[in-house]
Amino acid sequence: MTAPGMVAEFDDVAAWTAEAVEQLGVEHAIPAACRGSSSPAALAWLAEACELSPGARLLDVGAGSGGPAAWAASRFGVRPILLEAMPSAGRAASKLFGLPVLTADGRHIPLGNESVEVAWCLGVLCTVEDKVALLREIHRVLVPRASLGLLVVVAGDRPIRRPPDGNHFPTQTELEDVLDRSGFDLVEQIERPAAVPLSWTRRAAAVAAHISARHHTHPAYTLANSQGTRLTSLFAQGQLSIQLLHAVARVPNDRRSPAAG
Ligand SMILES: C[S@@+](CC[C@H](N)C(=O)[O-])C[C@H]1O[C@@H](n2cnc3c(N)ncnc32)[C@H](O)[C@@H]1O
Repeated sequence: MTAPGMVAEFDDVAAWTAEAVEQLGVEHAIPAACRGSSSPAALAWLAEACELSPGARLLDVGAGSGGPAAWAASRFGVRPILLEAMPSAGRAASKLFGLPVLTADGRHIPLGNESVEVAWCLGVLCTVEDKVALLREIHRVLVPRASLGLLVVVAGDRPIRRPPDGNHFPTQTELEDVLDRSGFDLVEQIERPAAVPLSWTRRAAAVAAHISARHHTHPAYTLANSQGTRLTSLFAQGQLSIQLLHAVARVPNDRRSPAAG
């Protein structure tokens, strides 16, 4: 069962975000719909690392309301396919950006083997307990040697006491281990760049203020807010950091050509 805090944060808030953008204007859509703490600099790093190119099929697993995928489509000309477990988030993504959305669990992706050229999974691994199951399924649908871009909230070495509802932050060692066990080679990793242009934060803040004005008495709003406050305090204490990773899908043994050894 999905934790109530997750439903509030990822489903209720997504629906309110779409409503707010409708009122405030379409220029608010991408910043407001980037719910994985990504930013233009973070997205640009991931896009360049994954060598996004016009026409490539980009599968965004746990796409939320679609901000990162819409950004990649508008800046790099990729053809995104969104996969998202929360129905309201998926509806918000198709309403805001008109992108195709599969409402499904990332551990059972309704796509064929080796059917996509590149995948992103931003802010998702830290909310999933069985990370290997999710990553193996992404590996299955990627063409061999395809790129995977990840944004992951990583815990330091001390165990996190009282993580926000539904979060399972990996340590760096665990993260490297699950990637390896799922068939990915880690190519490169950086801490998410801190700088975000004011033009972006201003639009995201306008949407947040709009949502607060209309929904602050709703129990889901209180719950989503307390999740956010707990997360902010863990970052402030230095217990968590946001990491960007570029990994590449290894060729499965049974698909290697004999000459490759
Ligand atoms: C922190 S949000 C990030 C959303 C989006 N990637 C972004 O960066 O704006 C995490 C998203 O992952 C989705 N998610 C979590 N577990 C999932 C799973 N097993 N399958 C599909 N989506 C999942 C949640 O519903 C939520 O929308």
